[in-house]
Amino acid sequence: MAEFTMLAGDKDWWRQAVIYQIYPRSFADGNGDGIGDLKGIISKVPYLKSLGLDAIWLSPFYPSALADGGYDVDDYRNVDPRIGTLEEFDVMVQELHKVGIRVIVDIVPNHSGSNHEWFQAALKAGPGSPERDRYIFRDGKGANGEIRPSELASHFGPTAWTRVTEPDGKPGQWYMHLFASEQPDFNWDNPEVREDFVKTLRFWSDRGVDGYRIDVAHALVKDLKNGHLPERQSFDLSVMKNNGEDDLFDRDEVHEIYAEWRKVFNEYNPPRVAVAEAWVHANRRPAYASTEGLGQSFNFDMLGAGWDAKKVRKIADYNLKAAKASGSSTTWVLSNHDIIRHATRFGLPNGTDFGQWYAKNRFNPKVDEKLGLDRARAMTMLLLALPGSTYLYQGEELGLQEALEIPAELMQDPQFFRNPELGLSRDGCRVPLPWNRTGSSFGFGTNGSHLPQPEWYGNVSVEAQDGVHGSTLELYRELMALRRSLETTEEFSWVNHILSPTTLHFKRPNGWQSITNFGTKSIKLPKGKVLATSKALVQGKLPQNATAWIQA
Ligand code: BGC
Repeated sequence: MAEFTMLAGDKDWWRQAVIYQIYPRSFADGNGDGIGDLKGIISKVPYLKSLGLDAIWLSPFYPSALADGGYDVDDYRNVDPRIGTLEEFDVMVQELHKVGIRVIVDIVPNHSGSNHEWFQAALKAGPGSPERDRYIFRDGKGANGEIRPSELASHFGPTAWTRVTEPDGKPGQWYMHLFASEQPDFNWDNPEVREDFVKTLRFWSDRGVDGYRIDVAHALVKDLKNGHLPERQSFDLSVMKNNGEDDLFDRDEVHEIYAEWRKVFNEYNPPRVAVAEAWVHANRRPAYASTEGLGQSFNFDMLGAGWDAKKVRKIADYNLKAAKASGSSTTWVLSNHDIIRHATRFGLPNGTDFGQWYAKNRFNPKVDEKLGLDRARAMTMLLLALPGSTYLYQGEELGLQEALEIPAELMQDPQFFRNPELGLSRDGCRVPLPWNRTGSSFGFGTNGSHLPQPEWYGNVSVEAQDGVHGSTLELYRELMALRRSLETTEEFSWVNHILSPTTLHFKRPNGWQSITNFGTKSIKLPKGKVLATSKALVQGKLPQNATAWIQA
């Protein structure tokens, strides 16, 4: 194996980092097969450097049947041949490290892909075998086992149980999958499963990976004791217990796994970091973020805030306090590969149910794109000024709107197929990036793109925005550089504007202040040097739907 360069020192690099999520299949296609790859990422290292990032997070790039965009992993310690090779992975890490960018990879421990060698072995080995015990196989109910073992729905609908055909050709047992049927859930009571994930974490850490994003981190341990099987039709937080005793999610025992992982992370210098994707009650997040556990846990609260000063302030206060109490730092997120891009969300009225809206209006959207982009830029500035780490999603630096008009026959998201009556899909935020104004797939590759790009993509491409003062791309670059020069400590305090509750204004170290106008009238800026604004000032005042950074 090659020598791996690690970035020097600071073990706390993640606390106030800007991390950029790359969805590898849709970032840049280096070999002209319509699918993004590691070669593509390597070719864009100068671009990533120009953004001024601390780290990238790579969504799954492992061998996969792509039943769920790669979150169905068939081999945890390899690279999908369509995406590249392990050697290319090493080169990518080296090149990113050379320019000071760290690498976080996605670990998907709740389920494997159904082509994983363990699942294939389980199918062949038959009921009661040690191979089946690595997953959750159960006999069905009814005279011939024809009724599913429990009334448990899948996240992607409808059921979480699929019946297998046994080696003798007869219909047989059922296995549990909280997501698509190509994503069988592991049995985390099985020590082999635990050992194998430790092996995976060491494998990537040894190759120089700096950290991990843990997929559905709250689901691994389920209550399956004494024949019990969870039953549930909704995955809403309101039906999840918040005391560690829910039979499906967020059980206290899951932290034993993360305590073991923490020991592995701490074997490295600097220690490897991890962030939990755990959709749990807010009071339960600190356990995932503890220094004895994964160390950080996503706070997705801003996704539900809308354009509302009161809500944004409440969310900021809650999360900054909670993170402090657990010794961690919080995370800020406006977009990722699972949700409608925020430039589009902010162009819809506050309180919109985005899933419903998408299902009904995909071909007739009526989004106020200008308003959406103004508010997206302003919110990004606000979040980048808060203490904590900020996760950006590829394309948001271009102010990309959701690509809405994807015809049904070109959709890839299992959510769309498994629950057709709902009409939900996450494909619109996964459309390959536009790099150029024109040309094959707008510079994504030389031979088309695996999801269709809308015509307007060229107008918002990197080429169209590069070097253009006021473009969203240049704004992001400017903000990242400023933030890097100003953010030395996690110091934070509000400046109250009693007469103007629609103004959010706070102070950070080095005289840095951020002020956002959620109201309808322009507001006066505090005294100081204007460092950056998300919208041009009007007669020296901050217009509505805008943020300014000041140095006092
Ligand atoms: C990922 C999704 C994925 C699911 C199942 C999530 O939380 O972010 O994209 O479909 O886990 O792995």
